[in-house]
Amino acid sequence: MNPHAIVILGGTGDQGLGLALRFARAGRPVVIGSRKLERAVEAAEKVREAVPGADVVGLENVDATPQGPIVILSVPFEHTAGTVKSIKPALGEGQVVVSMAVPLAAAIGDGAVRTVGIWQGSCAELVESLVPQGVRVVSAFQNVSAHRLQHLEEEVDCDVVVSGAKEPRELVMGLCELVPGLRALNGGPLANARIVEDITALMIGLNIRYKLPEGTGIRFTGLPES
Ligand SMILES: NC(=O)c1ccc[n+]([C@@H]2O[C@H](COP(=O)([O-])OP(=O)(O)OC[C@H]3O[C@@H](n4cnc5c(N)ncnc54)[C@H](OP(=O)(O)O)[C@@H]3O)[C@@H](O)[C@H]2O)c1
Repeated sequence: MNPHAIVILGGTGDQGLGLALRFARAGRPVVIGSRKLERAVEAAEKVREAVPGADVVGLENVDATPQGPIVILSVPFEHTAGTVKSIKPALGEGQVVVSMAVPLAAAIGDGAVRTVGIWQGSCAELVESLVPQGVRVVSAFQNVSAHRLQHLEEEVDCDVVVSGAKEPRELVMGLCELVPGLRALNGGPLANARIVEDITALMIGLNIRYKLPEGTGIRFTGLPES
């Protein structure tokens, strides 16, 4: 395992690729996971084209999982549980899994401007219920727009509420500092993920009503500078 590597499962999609581009640009090694090796390799090539010299590889999800201490789940909510179950044997003690999915009602054929209730309270807590003992789960990045992440020439301009236990939370807050314009906020315990996930549904509604294909962001005011 490379202690600096950031693993992004589903990094072939819009959001995961956006994060991969930003982390690679900040000089961090990135491992892109996919269900299909060819798709992962293709996504890694896209990152190298946009960020010359990027340290990025593409692997199947199960092979990508053990490559770094932080594993970001970047698959749609409805495929989150299945993905976690498929990589469970590859997860090791001390790894941090980042839950970024939003339980949009689109998953059950309803709209993307509202969420569905999750028995555990949030998608992040659902993920926590599925990972092996010793693996920590942190919630982050749900309110960040993929479009803005992918536009490397611009700052992202968004706060990231990061929730989970102190040590893994601080590790993930450190990732936000790699992306110009992102500010990490201490979101307290993982249970607060339910609030953060719901905000994304509201933001999707705002994007529709204000015709913002690039996506809006969130900012909290009145907080200390650092
Ligand atoms: N897009 C945004 O602006 C945005 C913003 C905030 C949060 N998010 C969250 O970020 C996550 C990724 O969003 P996205 O827009 O990048 O999603 P996406 O492009 O629809 O999907 C991401 C990846 O998920 C994998 N996937 C698709 N179907 C799957 C299945 N049946 N089983 C396992 N994996 C499957 C695919 O990877 P492979 O085919 O390569 O395996 C795909 O490239 C979501 O949970 C979303 O809620 C997105």
